[in-house]
Amino acid sequence: MRFLNHFDLLAPFYDLVIKSPDSKRLTEILDLPISGRLLDAGGGTGRIAEGLTEHAGRVVVSDTSLKMLRQARFKGGLDLVGGETERLPFPDDSFERVMIVDAFHHLADQALSLNEFWRVLAPGGLLVIEEPDIRRMAVKLVALAEKVTLFRSHFIPAERIATLLEKYNAKVTVYREGHTAWVVGEKTSTTSPELVLT
Ligand SMILES: C[S@@+](CC[C@H](N)C(=O)[O-])C[C@H]1O[C@@H](n2cnc3c(N)ncnc32)[C@H](O)[C@@H]1O
Repeated sequence: MRFLNHFDLLAPFYDLVIKSPDSKRLTEILDLPISGRLLDAGGGTGRIAEGLTEHAGRVVVSDTSLKMLRQARFKGGLDLVGGETERLPFPDDSFERVMIVDAFHHLADQALSLNEFWRVLAPGGLLVIEEPDIRRMAVKLVALAEKVTLFRSHFIPAERIATLLEKYNAKVTVYREGHTAWVVGEKTSTTSPELVLT
C-alpha cells in the first residue's frame, strides 16, 4: 500500500505559498557555472532549479511526487525524472553537482540517500545539502508543526550531516546564514578510506 504523500496534495499550491528565493547565495555555494549536469534531488516543482538553468549545461529535477514534478513542467529547461533519492535512476559519476534543498529532512532513509548522492556525483564534484537550521527556535517550531501534521520529517543538525559525509572521505564545509544551513561535500577522490593504498 502506498502511504499518503502530502506533497501530492500540496503540489498545485506549492509555488503560491513557498516563494522562490534569490538564488545568488546558492549559486555561489554550488560554485556555478558548470558545463556539466546538475541534479536537484527532491527538487519538487523546480522552484529552485528554475533559477539555475543558465548556470549549468543541464539541470535535472528528480522527485518521488509526480504531482510536484508535473508543476515543474511549466518551467522551461528542466529535465524531470520520477524516483526516490534512496534509489536514484542515474549511472555512477553522472553529475558535476548534486543538491537537495529543504528536502533532506523528509527523506525516508537519509543514510541510503547520501550513498546515492555520492554514487552519482562525479569526482571533483560538489554535493550541497540546504536545510533549515534546526538550532534556530523558529525552525524547531516548524519541525514540531510538521510532526503534528504527520509529515515524515527528521531534522538533524548540519554538523551531524557533515559527520555522515566524512565517511566518504569528503572535504566537508558547513555554512550558515539566517535560518539556513548548507553542508557542502567535495568528492576529492572515488577511493573509500578502507581502500587507500600507500
Ligand atoms: C519541501 S519540498 C522541497 C522541494 C524543493 N526542493 C524546493 O525547495 O522547492 C520536499 C520535496 O521532497 C520530496 N521527497 C520527499 N521524500 C523523497 C524521496 N525519498 N525521494 C525523492 N523526493 C522526495 C517531496 O516529494 C517534495 O517534493
